[in-house]
Amino acid sequence: PRKIIIDTDPGQDDAFAILLALGSPDELEVVGITAVAGNVPLARTAENAQRVVELAGRPDITVYPGCARPMVRPLFTAEYVHGDSGLDGCELPAPSRPLGSLHGVDFIIDTVMAAEPGSVTVCTLGPMTNLAMAMVKQPAIAGRLEEVVLMGGGFFEGGNTTPAAEFNIFVDPHAAHVVFTSGVPLTMVPIDCTYRAVMTPDWLRRLRAVGTRTAIQAAGMAEFYQRYGNTKFGTDDYPLHDPCVIGYLLRPELFSGRRCHVAIDLVSPLTAGMTVVDWWNVTKQAPNCLVLRDLDNPAFYALMLERLSRLP
Ligand code: BDR
Ligand code: CA
Repeated sequence: PRKIIIDTDPGQDDAFAILLALGSPDELEVVGITAVAGNVPLARTAENAQRVVELAGRPDITVYPGCARPMVRPLFTAEYVHGDSGLDGCELPAPSRPLGSLHGVDFIIDTVMAAEPGSVTVCTLGPMTNLAMAMVKQPAIAGRLEEVVLMGGGFFEGGNTTPAAEFNIFVDPHAAHVVFTSGVPLTMVPIDCTYRAVMTPDWLRRLRAVGTRTAIQAAGMAEFYQRYGNTKFGTDDYPLHDPCVIGYLLRPELFSGRRCHVAIDLVSPLTAGMTVVDWWNVTKQAPNCLVLRDLDNPAFYALMLERLSRLP
């Protein structure tokens, strides 16, 4: 299986991403989870990640707490989407094992430097602070990673946090800048792609009907999270962003996109945190990123249902 580190700020959709990965052990080996401040502060994202691995019957997977704030800007959180706990809507088991004693940034560095070059992929599902700090501390990791697959950004859809910026990039644009200019093989899953991953009420009913504790708790958190979509956009379906990253690793043929040059706006009061995607190659700069734009929604949700059903 492909070795991945999941860097995350759970977050209901982060939890789905973790569960999808843990339900796919033939393809993916989760070597560790690093937590970052994002949807809620670090103490909560770290504990939430522990509770999710516990739910999945995998407390052997260690959660390493990383950065408690973005590189430059003050922390901006999203309790308005995810609830005060970050994972409202479910009741998850308390952690049975302690947090990792290494800092998340050092876990990334040590894991990548100890592994065969090109054998570890980092999936970032929140602000990219941990990975960027790891690249600042040990620049050699950029040349040793197999790939970085990130959920973040948006270009045709615009932003979901400001008119121009998506949440994960908005929270720590400087971190995104470090990663996008590092030369690491990069795949970006922006909201242009994830907004095609809407979760329908019918799918939610089928998930609950699986009847396992994981399925029941996942359905509860998804229902809570969907309410945000209801109130904000008046729809009864809402996208699960972060599991698209894992879905792409499992079944890349379900996704389509284009290699482009992407730059991050760091300074404009109107558009800071925007991913400036040169989709039409007007600048003639060499592509630094595969930008995904579409996915096969029914096949993606069929995969999620199948993989989540394997968990206890
Ligand atoms: C991203 O922001 C967070 O709220 C979600 O967990 C996801 O990672 C979507 O913009
Ligand atoms: Ca997230």
